[in-house]
Amino acid sequence: MNICKTISEFRRYRRSAAGGKVIFVPTMGALHEGHGSLVRMARRLAGSDGIVAVSIFVNPTQFGPQEDFHKYPRPFEQDLAHLAAWEADAVFFPSPEEMYAPGSAMSIDPGPLGSVLDGAIRPGHFRGVCTVVAKLLGIVEPASMILGQKDFQQQLILKHMVRDLNMPVEVVTAPTLREPDGLAMSSRNRYLSPDQRAQAGSIYQALSWARHEYSGGVRDAGALEAGLSERIGQAGLEVQYALACHPETLEVYRQTVATPCVFLIAATLGTTRLIDNLVVA
Ligand code: PAF
Repeated sequence: MNICKTISEFRRYRRSAAGGKVIFVPTMGALHEGHGSLVRMARRLAGSDGIVAVSIFVNPTQFGPQEDFHKYPRPFEQDLAHLAAWEADAVFFPSPEEMYAPGSAMSIDPGPLGSVLDGAIRPGHFRGVCTVVAKLLGIVEPASMILGQKDFQQQLILKHMVRDLNMPVEVVTAPTLREPDGLAMSSRNRYLSPDQRAQAGSIYQALSWARHEYSGGVRDAGALEAGLSERIGQAGLEVQYALACHPETLEVYRQTVATPCVFLIAATLGTTRLIDNLVVA
């Protein structure tokens, strides 16, 4: 596996390995089986002559001043072992100075989708995400980029970014991988104490309840949202939002939940913030 720490090293590697297509998985490291499913999907899409490229970069510009940038886990050696087992070909592991050269001042406006839901709670977050992903795409030049559905708003905004800015890359959204109790796999799950870990399962239980109600014909947005919040709140989590939205526009269904719909949840457990979603069609 090739480890490239600079942009020029990665570009050199990419030129020398020219052949099949490049499939890209951007990450912030602290890899888990959820990332494993993305990298394995990349391997299938790349085939034996293509390249699976993974970036590991904890991007400072997408964290707010009070957020967990400094404590974000950085187990690089473990990450490398995972990537080798998942058959990645190349890892791009730049420093912040490499990604943001002194004087670099450009950023990408994520548009209206960037200021709702997580964008309202984490101002500037999606500007940071779009900017770093645009830069990574300019370096890696992949045919496809694979993102996880857990970060639902992120994958939607990045699809808009590549469409609106005519970037020649296909964005593929991969299903969320879950723990046996349904908790969506996330690098931030490792912050949870054993008690909090047990409480966190309530997020998926609440989403599954909403899906069950929806399948049974319930369309009352207020009742579904109240039921979601109640279930998560009872487990001891602080709910930031629990909403039924249109999955393409993120418009919140205020009265009647229509089809298609995504149930979106953000909640905190102590200082850990968790998000999850379920799409129903
Ligand atoms: O989802 C993530 O891990 C990050 O937001 C991403 C897409 C790698 C950009 O820093």
